Amino acid sequence: MKRHHVLVAMPVFAEVLAQLGEHFEVDAPCGIRDTVEWTPETLTARLQGCAGMLVAGTPRVDAALLAACPDLRAVCSMAVGYNNIDLAACTARGVLVSNAPDVLTETTADFGFALMMAAARRITESERFLRAGRWTHWSYDLFAGADVHGATLGVLGMGRIGSAIARRGALGFGMPVIYHNRSRLSSEAEQQLGARWVDKDELLRCSDHLVIVVPYSAASHHLVGAAELALMKPGATLTNIARGGVVDDAALAVALREHRLFAAGLDVFEGEPALNPDLLDLPNVVLTPHIASASLPTRRAMADLAASNLIAALGRGPAAGKPPTALNPQVLSGA
Ligand code: GLV
Repeated sequence: MKRHHVLVAMPVFAEVLAQLGEHFEVDAPCGIRDTVEWTPETLTARLQGCAGMLVAGTPRVDAALLAACPDLRAVCSMAVGYNNIDLAACTARGVLVSNAPDVLTETTADFGFALMMAAARRITESERFLRAGRWTHWSYDLFAGADVHGATLGVLGMGRIGSAIARRGALGFGMPVIYHNRSRLSSEAEQQLGARWVDKDELLRCSDHLVIVVPYSAASHHLVGAAELALMKPGATLTNIARGGVVDDAALAVALREHRLFAAGLDVFEGEPALNPDLLDLPNVVLTPHIASASLPTRRAMADLAASNLIAALGRGPAAGKPPTALNPQVLSGA
């Protein structure tokens, strides 16, 4: 049987490369650690003759790339967010797309909660102070922060990860939970989570800790900008584990500098890995490099799922023809 060529366009576990190697001729220019700065030209060149590609949240897969790579049949991502992939263009060309949902939900929710707590309780700011040798005496208000337990948790985007964060807040920290989502949950689901739907303005006005978990799209670009930040309580925190661009980082930096918001926790940034330099100067923001899903077991599960999708999408392995988390399975069924 002809062995397909596939491109692994990101660094990935050696075991995953070995697994792909059982089925395909694998081109893995990043190996397990290196980076390649993909441009549309370098990606197009490297994809010639490839039937499949394994990616993460970058690079962009759009109609122009697909047109230039006519052999491509499957694009499998190890990220849950797939805003870098033009799903409609892939479907139109019969290219299977998959993402990696579910396996990262709990780990990402843990991190979102940790980031929110770090912002509220000033963990990184106080650590920097201590490491700099500036701790000379105890004081009643030394790095006094905002309480998390019992405070109102606001979740913007109540999907799988948003729900997992709501559960942590309601069950673990006794937080009243409010949320806003385009589609409201069933009343049973709301009851189970202990969460109440509110409109977006009420969410912004009433949250003590706002956690943002919406997917990025043109509709969610700057969903939280200057006008929305102006509605928030000055004592509130904002945590973004969604995507850069959902929050207007420049407006957020101004609100934090002017203490119109208590603190923020950001794992994602507009234009990352670059970030708005104004954020770097602010003490009241916790900054992490897009690592919310980064526990080793979870990253391994995400990579395994992406590999399983690729193997199945190209007609190999026990699930041949049935990639487990396809976003457009109709392209395989011919429907
Ligand atoms: C990470 O941001 C992901 O979408 O998996």
